[in-house]
Amino acid sequence: MNKITLKSPVDMHLHLRQGDMLNNIAHLSAKYFANAVIMPNTVPAIADLDALDIYKQDIIKSFKFDNMTPMMSLFFRNYSEAELIKAKDKIFGIKLYPQGATTNSDSGVDNLDEAETTFKIMEELQIPLLVHGEQADDFVLDREKNFLPVYEHLAKKYPKLKISMEHITTAKALELLDRYENLLATVTLQHLSITLDDVAGGLFNPHLFCKPIAKRPEDRDALLNAALSAHPKLMFGSDSAPHPRSSKECCGCAAGVFSAPIALAYLVDIFDKNNSLQNLQAFISDNAVKNYGFKLLNKEITLEKKDFIIPNQYSDVVPFMAGNTINWSYV
Ligand code: DOR
Ligand code: ZN
Repeated sequence: MNKITLKSPVDMHLHLRQGDMLNNIAHLSAKYFANAVIMPNTVPAIADLDALDIYKQDIIKSFKFDNMTPMMSLFFRNYSEAELIKAKDKIFGIKLYPQGATTNSDSGVDNLDEAETTFKIMEELQIPLLVHGEQADDFVLDREKNFLPVYEHLAKKYPKLKISMEHITTAKALELLDRYENLLATVTLQHLSITLDDVAGGLFNPHLFCKPIAKRPEDRDALLNAALSAHPKLMFGSDSAPHPRSSKECCGCAAGVFSAPIALAYLVDIFDKNNSLQNLQAFISDNAVKNYGFKLLNKEITLEKKDFIIPNQYSDVVPFMAGNTINWSYV
């Protein structure tokens, strides 16, 4: 096949930032994606409906020529039932960050026991819980693995609560996904295609540094095989997380990989190289709609088999695999 048209691609996990960064990069998602779930770890975090309404308007204003449906999320805190009843129609879900686990998560949850009342209300109101599943202070390669019992506890205790294991990075997380009906998962482009070796095995590459960090080859391969075979509970979430070049190419480099404008072309390239193009539509859109039942914006993205050199930067942000050539380009 030399051409492919993707119908209404969805990015189930996207950071758009605020201010100049928002205005410089959000349109790059709107160009290629129909819908996207917007992360709330802004400064300050999006933790009430007034902030959420303003942020959503800012996002929509920042698109230049294209449109995209932002599916908003609130930053997890203990919300009252009245707050959540009001929020339900305005949000896609609530994103939980363990305190200190990643960028702008200082106001995250430090004691999950205290969050149980909110989980219960979310379950009753059918508001999905999106989770950054890492044990913040554990050894970096074990943080996701050590968080899996928390997912298991939540999945058992709230069987009607949809729980999305965000940006999974390990084969173990995939195994857990298959064990509980109410667990779902997103996976990023980088975790399907790189390992820790690419980040830090040779000279450190700050543009591949993100949280959770890329893991072992067998983890990458398990995730890739699940995506290539259209695992029905696994959905594409880029976790595209732009930071200015100066915050990446320095000591104390910020965590985050920026992939939004190249993600679909790169995914087509990977799926093609693995003879699985027929399963890409499920991974980048259909699974999400089946799992959550939201309305898609109509959009078609056509790509052709033609070399594409990934740009060195978009505005002042360096994308995933900058300067590399892939074999598919946007038409
Ligand atoms: O690498 C990451 N960057 N992981 C996250 O969880 C947050 C994100 C960001 O906001 O920069
Ligand atoms: Zn993220």
